[in-house]
Amino acid sequence: MANELTENIVWHHTTISKTDRQQRLGHKSCVVWFTGLSGAGKSTLANAVEQKLHQRGIHSYVLDGDNIRHGLNRGLGFDPEDRKENIRRIGEVAKLFVDAGVITLTAFISPFREDRELARSLVEAGEFVEVYVKCPLEECERRDPKGLYRKARSGEIGDFTGISSPYEEPVAPELVIESAEQSVEQSAEIILSYLQERGIIPLPVPHPLHKS
Ligand code: ADX
Repeated sequence: MANELTENIVWHHTTISKTDRQQRLGHKSCVVWFTGLSGAGKSTLANAVEQKLHQRGIHSYVLDGDNIRHGLNRGLGFDPEDRKENIRRIGEVAKLFVDAGVITLTAFISPFREDRELARSLVEAGEFVEVYVKCPLEECERRDPKGLYRKARSGEIGDFTGISSPYEEPVAPELVIESAEQSVEQSAEIILSYLQERGIIPLPVPHPLHKS
């Protein structure tokens, strides 16, 4: 989008393309966009999927809300405007990673539909896999791994998703994972199977010592 800040900046096409990189790596790239309440299990699941991808020699990277907010997005808070900017930047970073040929797993609450749709629009059709990590608020609050729900209830933290700030459920996510019903292992396998079915990652190579 051209504005006064970008009008004198010309897009430079790279010599090596995304397809070249994907061919070199032996798999396609995409964003696996986890969304859900704090404590729903987004980071845990993203890491479990990454571990399986890594074991299969697939290049991946996890972008995680809590970590990114320490660096790239330090200074952004939790009002709707800052969350929007948080997700816009992550959408752009994820797009770069996809261009680099990497399976990019993002674990952000990303509570607003419009912001997730913006992130989706930045990559090509089929490159955005929205995974709704669905977990009842009561269960997230019971888990309360960081003690933040308690602080939100006591008013120590404001704008807290699910308590004092909204979460807009995805309308048509590619996958829904009910984290209170399924194990991390089962959930990670569902995501891997999806990536395989879509031809994003190859089928696993059978172990030479395993007879079928
Ligand atoms: S997002 O809404 O902008 O997508 P993001 O995923 O980056 O949020 O960060 C959420 C994490 O920040 C939570 O898991 C939690 O640890 C922490 N956090 C701190 N304050 C808040 C708050 N007000 N609402 C939600 N999460 C918060």
